[in-house]
Amino acid sequence: MTAAISAARRDIEHSIHPYTNLKLHMEKGPLIITEGKGIYVYDEQGKEYIEGLAGLWCTALGFGEEELVQAAVRQMRKLPYYHTFAHKATNPAIDLAEKLKQMAPVPISKVFFANSGSEANDSLVKLVWYYNNARGRPRKKKIVSRLKAYHGVTVASGSLTGLPNNHRDFDLPIANILHTDCPHHYRFAKDGESEEEFATRLAGNLEKLIQDQGPDTVAAFIAEPVMGAGGVIVPPRTYFEKIQEVLRRHDVLMLADEVICGFGRTGNMFGCETFNIRPDAITVAKALSSAYLPISGILLTQQIFDAMVAESEKIGVFGHGFTYSGHPVPAAVALRNLELMEERQILDHVKRVAPRFQERLRSFAGHPLVGETRGVGLIGAVELVADKATKRPFDPAKKVGLNCGNRAEEHGLIIRALVDSVAFCPPLIITEAEIDEMFNRFSRALDETEDWVRKNGLRAA
Ligand SMILES: Cc1ncc(COP(=O)(O)O)c(C=O)c1O
Repeated sequence: MTAAISAARRDIEHSIHPYTNLKLHMEKGPLIITEGKGIYVYDEQGKEYIEGLAGLWCTALGFGEEELVQAAVRQMRKLPYYHTFAHKATNPAIDLAEKLKQMAPVPISKVFFANSGSEANDSLVKLVWYYNNARGRPRKKKIVSRLKAYHGVTVASGSLTGLPNNHRDFDLPIANILHTDCPHHYRFAKDGESEEEFATRLAGNLEKLIQDQGPDTVAAFIAEPVMGAGGVIVPPRTYFEKIQEVLRRHDVLMLADEVICGFGRTGNMFGCETFNIRPDAITVAKALSSAYLPISGILLTQQIFDAMVAESEKIGVFGHGFTYSGHPVPAAVALRNLELMEERQILDHVKRVAPRFQERLRSFAGHPLVGETRGVGLIGAVELVADKATKRPFDPAKKVGLNCGNRAEEHGLIIRALVDSVAFCPPLIITEAEIDEMFNRFSRALDETEDWVRKNGLRAA
């Protein structure tokens, strides 16, 4: 019935797109992706693209992994749905919780499942409040996040996110959410300040914030080991060590958002291992199932779980959970995904190819458009600036990053422009030859962007 009308037209007619200029979309329409294999995806016309961001930082094992398809099919046939409310359980959810405990970077007592990173972080905010109520500290409720953090978009997780577009006109953040410094040395260090000195200053600022607010009102600090959507910001040396000293002094929980960093991205199974973080709770999603089906988890230490037990006993029920918490199909896929990571020694592979990724990424440092290259493991970014010497950014209205991203798409590479930082986060299965091909395509896009910037005088202050 609708065959005569193009899919693009029907998309414009019927769909709302997240993170899209909705007016522009009505003129421009979508890029419709129809297939994927390995690190590649293909559009309606059959054009090939390298998925340089693994979708949204998530398809760790790449596209078209038949083992994951089969895991879903098997579970669908056996039991397509059951829930975990009121003492019910399913085997995939039990197996997955056990597996996550074995893999976790610190001793974990229990795992709670949700469906997205936002839901996991949102739930965690509630659990922190529940925890402090259980411990008789009803005032200890504030949660410190960081400017440029990304923790999701639901009401509490969107409040934790420290990006203006996620707050503006959504009436966020909610009360009791604070934002401390972004740990980006290139942008925010003082002249001549070393990474270590910068880290010391930021830890000092956090301590002052906690003291000003009153330590009896501050419950937790949440951080991505490497900030993702905020621009792929790798913390300065000694940062987390110093931050955690402050948290310990004031009995403030350390919450690690491993939604991007978890499962090998930074060269260790968890970002916590790469940056010496000893969290009290961890959220995971994305690469947990290589994004084949939606699933997320909260990994909780014993002290938090003990408090939850006491509170639910007092109230009569732990009054939180989702229809799909521990859904058996995504749980079965996630379990198989984690097994495949082990069977195929994906972590060793990441360690082997990451030096090539980082070397190629850093080779752009001399390019006239590039202010900074940064990254760790198989994640990184190239920050475009108007003036390399002064680090002056482009006028955001010129949309230089977006232009570079669009040119990359013309060359068969999908990447993500986070304002003017272009992010790379390919599937973990990427080979050295594919890394070279990815950056060769990017190099062409970057050179063309430079020509366009020069011809149009976009460096003018
Ligand atoms: C670090 C981090 N936390 C949380 C989220 C939110 O996840 P979701 O989009 O699944 O809600 C994201 C999404 O990009 C993320 O990068």
